[in-house]
Amino acid sequence: MELDRVIVSEDEIKARVAELGAQITRDYAGKELFVVCILKGASIFMADLVRQIKIPVQIDFMSLSSYGKSTQTSGVVRMLRDLDQEIAGKDVLVVEDIIDTGLTLSYLKENLLARKPASLRFCTFLDKPSRRKVAFQPDYSGMAIEDYFVVGYGLDYQEKYRELPFIGVVKSVD
Ligand code: IMP
Ligand code: MG
Repeated sequence: MELDRVIVSEDEIKARVAELGAQITRDYAGKELFVVCILKGASIFMADLVRQIKIPVQIDFMSLSSYGKSTQTSGVVRMLRDLDQEIAGKDVLVVEDIIDTGLTLSYLKENLLARKPASLRFCTFLDKPSRRKVAFQPDYSGMAIEDYFVVGYGLDYQEKYRELPFIGVVKSVD
């Protein structure tokens, strides 16, 4: 596997995260936000995003996994790690790295709504709308991309490349 090209630069990421943070700050003015970070991919985006949100924030983590091949989603979602805290009555913002088929977040939405949060919204850095298997519309989206397999800024290919400060496309995988 080799990197083909960079599609989102470090500067572009920084600018977009600042805009998202400002928008979230405006939308939740006067409130407190309970941020749910989806491990592992969203960890880097979440860390940048919360520093651009100028209201009080709590952070918790959840880990989900879908069975299947490395670059394909099978549709079966497993919860590997649940939140530490209760979310009933809280304003919850789920932060994700990328939405592909929509299966992961559709599952998560049902799961979290059952816990009766005051509100529930979803923020993703990247979105591949052309790949949806189930309808899912994020409330906040950094940018939509074509159907490429991408790495960097938290996103991996077989657990590698998460540390890249930009988003790149990999050369023909699988
Ligand atoms: P979904 O359930 O198909 O929407 O799955 C989304 C998850 O698949 C993300 O949280 C990523 O972990 C993974 N994923 C989807 N597309 C990519 C990609 O292009 N690069 C790296 N991981 C991806
Ligand atoms: Mg992920």
